[in-house]
Amino acid sequence: MLYRSWLRSEGFTPEVFDGRPVIGIANSWSELTPCNLHLRGVAEAVKRGVWQAGGFPLEFPTMSLGEPIMRPTAMLFRNLMAMEVEELLRANPLDAVVLLSGCDKTTPAMLMAAASADLPAIMVTGGPMLNGKFRGADVGSGTHVWRFEQELAAGRMTQGDVLEAESGMARSCGHCMTMGTASTMACMAETLGMQLPGSATWPAADSRRLRTAQLAGQRIVALARTELRPSAIMTRQAFENAIVVNAAIGGSTNAVIHLLAIAGRLGVPLDLDDFDRLARRVPTLVNLMPSGRYLMEDFCYAGGVPAVMRELGDLLHTGHVGVTGRTLAENIAGAECWNRDVIRSVAEPLLPPGTGTAVLRGNLCPGGAVIKQSAASPHLLKHRGQALVFDSIEEYHEAAVKPDLPVTESTILVVRGAGPKGYPGMPEVGNFVLPTRMLDRGVTDMVRISDARMSGTAFGTVVLHVAPEAAAGGPLAMVRSGDWIELDVPGRSLTLEVSEDELTRRRLAWTPPDLAYHRGYARLYVEHVQQADQGADLDFLVGASGAQVPRHNH
Ligand code: FES
Repeated sequence: MLYRSWLRSEGFTPEVFDGRPVIGIANSWSELTPCNLHLRGVAEAVKRGVWQAGGFPLEFPTMSLGEPIMRPTAMLFRNLMAMEVEELLRANPLDAVVLLSGCDKTTPAMLMAAASADLPAIMVTGGPMLNGKFRGADVGSGTHVWRFEQELAAGRMTQGDVLEAESGMARSCGHCMTMGTASTMACMAETLGMQLPGSATWPAADSRRLRTAQLAGQRIVALARTELRPSAIMTRQAFENAIVVNAAIGGSTNAVIHLLAIAGRLGVPLDLDDFDRLARRVPTLVNLMPSGRYLMEDFCYAGGVPAVMRELGDLLHTGHVGVTGRTLAENIAGAECWNRDVIRSVAEPLLPPGTGTAVLRGNLCPGGAVIKQSAASPHLLKHRGQALVFDSIEEYHEAAVKPDLPVTESTILVVRGAGPKGYPGMPEVGNFVLPTRMLDRGVTDMVRISDARMSGTAFGTVVLHVAPEAAAGGPLAMVRSGDWIELDVPGRSLTLEVSEDELTRRRLAWTPPDLAYHRGYARLYVEHVQQADQGADLDFLVGASGAQVPRHNH
């Protein structure tokens, strides 16, 4: 009576307590997260399915992370959201959960939570916005923001043009409709087997988004009665499939960090080199911005993730079982590609194997670094240049507009202090706009190196996630303007041409930056965050503790 009576205040009839599965619907709806704004409607569709299948749905709010709005960066809070959702799943009397996410960090945060709580779970991502439209052309969220910003800085667009473009770029509910981080992570959730086949790509405004949510509601009731928990679904094979599909879709570099973090929660061995090794065999098939020309709506109508997986054939582990309870082979058996320009074949790919995200090693990044080759300029993939170093992104922004900045086309721009500890939160600033002097000369790309991340919608010859970061005393902290750096992406190396002796001298003279956050979450984060090559999770959140509330042992 104690437990039932308060829930009766919500107006339920007694039979909801007859032992049927209690299904949580974890909703990251928020007006501060425009990409997730429509999730209340999605939750209603999930509830329909749960009731239909004989479950008892209870929706609850979670923290939400609005990528374009939060400061200093939404990534700072991914681990906090993961921790919050994990504890909500464990503390409440739920038999299973449907996770509603959308914007970049909400999807990995919820997957990390589900992994650690290990409660039967299905994810329903909110779907992408409709294709952006501006003056007769398709424009992509993020990708065209960077382009238009460069055009504005170079004087080829006016403020009026930009205002007109931005309204056409976001003309429906949903997350970014380029192959940015949100779309990538939605595809990753589907590939890992945590959302229903085909559901990553339905546009948010398409009625089939709600249909897929209702189906998820039906399915989760059955899943609650099985042992098909996240730990049984997100296996090493599932992560290998995710790496392969990420390469084939031209997915975001952020997927590297998020997949490492999710795997870390499950104790699945996965490291940076797995990404390079597995991706080398995979051609880029999906012709979407920022690597290609189309957008998520086109990808959806062309067949979405199942069509890509079918095309990849034996590059994938087809015996893997996801939330459907069926094997991947069974799930994609009927998948068709309806537009070969959007989803290319393995025989005629958009980009050949080995041109996806590459992992670099070298004395500048002993813990590794990544570069998205498909978004880079081919002529810069092998490049030697002199460093021009900035200790923060703010310092760079101030200097970048100066007409006398000592920079040439071959300069390598280095920005540090933007890693997990240094910023804190590892913001998406690695694709910083080129110096005005270079833009005025018509230069469109230069090699940029940082310990930051970049938006999945961005492009450029940009080396990211340098580990260890500068604030942790990595070699990046020792680089000085004028040093020669060699980037060799085909050879997977990043070399600072400074002798070991000199580096040791510099290290001895180096003073660590003041990272003192005296209270609250920022303090917890800076004290415990891991480096990018480990997924930037908090060290004490690594591993799972299951669905049961821990009991104190007296
Ligand atoms: Fe939310 Fe891009 S800003 S998905």
